[in-house]
Amino acid sequence: MPPTVDTAHAQLVVVSNRLPIAYQIAADGEKVASLSPGGLVAALGPALAGTGATWVGWDGTVDGSEEPLDVEGFRIEPVSLTAELIKGHYEGFSNGTLWPLFHNVGVPARFSAPWWGSYERANEAFAERVAKVSPEGAVVFVQDYHLMLVPALLRNRRPDLTIGYFHHIPFPDPDTMAALDQRAMVLQGLLGADIVGFQRQRDVEAFHKNTASMGVQVPGDHKVQVAAYPISIDTAGVSQAAQALKVQARASDLRKEWGNPSRVFLGVDRLDYTKGIPERLQAFEELLASGAASSEDTVFVQAGSPSRETVEQYQALSAEIDEIVTRVNAKYPSGQERGAIVYLRENLPREEMLALFVAADVMVVTSLADGMNLVAKEFVACRSDDSGVLVLSTEAGAAETMSEALLVNPFNKTEIVEALEASLVLAPEDVARRMAALRQEVSTNDVARWARAILADLETARAN
Ligand code: G6P
Repeated sequence: MPPTVDTAHAQLVVVSNRLPIAYQIAADGEKVASLSPGGLVAALGPALAGTGATWVGWDGTVDGSEEPLDVEGFRIEPVSLTAELIKGHYEGFSNGTLWPLFHNVGVPARFSAPWWGSYERANEAFAERVAKVSPEGAVVFVQDYHLMLVPALLRNRRPDLTIGYFHHIPFPDPDTMAALDQRAMVLQGLLGADIVGFQRQRDVEAFHKNTASMGVQVPGDHKVQVAAYPISIDTAGVSQAAQALKVQARASDLRKEWGNPSRVFLGVDRLDYTKGIPERLQAFEELLASGAASSEDTVFVQAGSPSRETVEQYQALSAEIDEIVTRVNAKYPSGQERGAIVYLRENLPREEMLALFVAADVMVVTSLADGMNLVAKEFVACRSDDSGVLVLSTEAGAAETMSEALLVNPFNKTEIVEALEASLVLAPEDVARRMAALRQEVSTNDVARWARAILADLETARAN
C-alpha cells in the first residue's frame, strides 16, 4: 500500500533522469550531497519548499546506492543504474538516438535494438520507484526525453496518481520521427500523462501531428491536456546575485585580465553540437577577417562546460572547437596574453558565470535547435543597467518572446557576421531600449510563473 497524506494539496513527486544533487567529500571522508542550483530546482524549489516533496532520479554514478537522502528540504530517492543501463539508456537511446533525432541539426541519430531495451528497462525502474514512494493521490511531474515511457508505465501501476510530463527539448515532425521504429510506443508512453507540456506551440502541433499520423489514441478513459508552457529562469534571483559587489568586482577584473578590450563577445554553453558553437566562432573569425573588429580590442570569450563526453559525437565537437580556437588565435594575435578567443572549457562556478554575463557587451546564442535556451534569459537578467546586446538564434525557443534581441538564422553565417557587426554599432539608446524590453519580458515571465501554470493545471486535473 502506498503511504497516505492528509493535506489539502497533493504532494508532489518530481522525476528526472538526473537528480539535482552534487556530492562533496567532507573532511571526515564522508560523501555529502547538496542541491545543485540548476534551472529545475530554481523553478520548482519555491513551489516545493516545506512540502517534503520527493525527487526521484539517477545520481550520475554507476551502481549508486538507492538509500533515500534528505537534502535541503527535498526527499531524494536515487534510482541506481548499472554500467550497462547507463550505456544503453543514457548514452545510447537518450543521447545517441533521441537527442540528435529530436534536434535534427544534421548529426545523424544512431539506432540500436539493445539501446531501446535498456531505455525500456530504465523507464520501468524509474516508474517502479515512483510507484513505490508516491503517496496516495499525489501529483507526479516527470521531466524530459529520457523518461517518455514513464507516464503510461506509472498509470498502469498507480491509477490514483495525477501525472504531468514536461518535454524540455524540441519535438520533431512525423517525417523526422519516422526514423524511429519505436515511435508509437513513445507516443503511447507520453499519453499516459494527464498533462503533456512542451516549450512551444510548434512542439505541441508536432506532437498532435505524430499521434494523428500514427493513429495513436489515449489509452483508457483519462483526458490528456497537451499545451505549451515556456520555461524560464528565477529572474529576480539571478538579477540580484549578479548585482553582488563580489560579482561586479570580478567582472571588472575579468575585463582587465583580457586587456581592457573595447568589446567583449560572450558565448556560454554546454559543449553540445546543437548550440552552434563552431558556427559562431567562425563568424567571429570572419568579422576579424573583414576588418570590422580587431583582435587587439575585441575578444570572444567562449565558456563551454564539458558534457556527455563518452558519446562519440560530443568528442568530435570538442576536437572541432579546439581546432577553430587554435587556428583563430594563431591567425589573429591580440598583442596581449589572451587570444582573440578566450576559451574556458570547464564547469564554471555560478558566481564566475554571472561575472561573465556582467563583463560582456554582446551575448551570442546561435543554437541550431534549442528547446528554450535559458542562457539568453540569464544574460538579460544580469543587465540591471539596461546595457548589453543579445544576438539570438531564431531556432531557440527563447526567440519566440525575445523579439528585441538581434535575431539571426544560425544556418546562415553571413547573417551571424552581420549581427555581430551590427551589435558593435547599435546606438546606445537603441541598446537600452531593447534591453529594457527584454528585461521586462523575462521579469514577467519567470520560472515561478511557469511552475505555477503547470502545477495549477495538474491540480485541476487531479480535482476532476
Ligand atoms: C538538457 C536536457 C536535460 C539535461 C541537460 C544536461 O538541458 O534537456 O534533460 O539534464 O541537458 O544534460 P545531461 O546529459 O548532463 O543530463
